[in-house]
Amino acid sequence: MNQHTTDWQPKIVAFLCNWCSYTGADLAGISRIHWSPAVNIVRVMCSGRLDPTFVVKAFSMGADGVIVSGCHPGDCHYQKGNYKALRRVHLLKRLLVDFGVEPERLRLVWVSASEGEAWARVANEMEAKVRALGPLKLALGRARQASPLRRRPTRQREGGLTRDPGPEDRPGEADLVHDPLPENRRGEARLARDTERHAS
Ligand code: FES
Repeated sequence: MNQHTTDWQPKIVAFLCNWCSYTGADLAGISRIHWSPAVNIVRVMCSGRLDPTFVVKAFSMGADGVIVSGCHPGDCHYQKGNYKALRRVHLLKRLLVDFGVEPERLRLVWVSASEGEAWARVANEMEAKVRALGPLKLALGRARQASPLRRRPTRQREGGLTRDPGPEDRPGEADLVHDPLPENRRGEARLARDTERHAS
């Protein structure tokens, strides 16, 4: 028996495009086709709307797997959104490996509005895959360090802040002050030594 099956239940977040995959999932529900309750749907207007930070945030907030699903190539209602999603997911998989996230935990798939059964199969397969991989053990500190969310200017982060960003808002400086990585700590120590030498 799988050692993870006793007390752990996988959490999977699925970003589905409104026009195809969400409607496909809806069709599966209307047709009473069973699909995994571990999958939680977030509707986006197009798979091309998927900001890579959505995926990073889903993992950092406890998801064990993420599905991105959109219209079949050539069927996107915004023409090329799904091609954008394809490129982003490809890059994201490479990035996630750096944080110890198996690339299989992120899946991109095309499901049309008439493919209720296909959606159910995708959801069930993803649950089985994530169960086999086990709970995600994410290097959270490092993920937060690298998260693009952390590097946004204060104006965006706080939603309409009126003052201009000051020196404390510049991402590079803020990162240096708070960065716990050993190589940066060494850099700070050297900086302090040099400052003392020049002052004396
Ligand atoms: S509208 Fe479905 S992928 Fe763009």
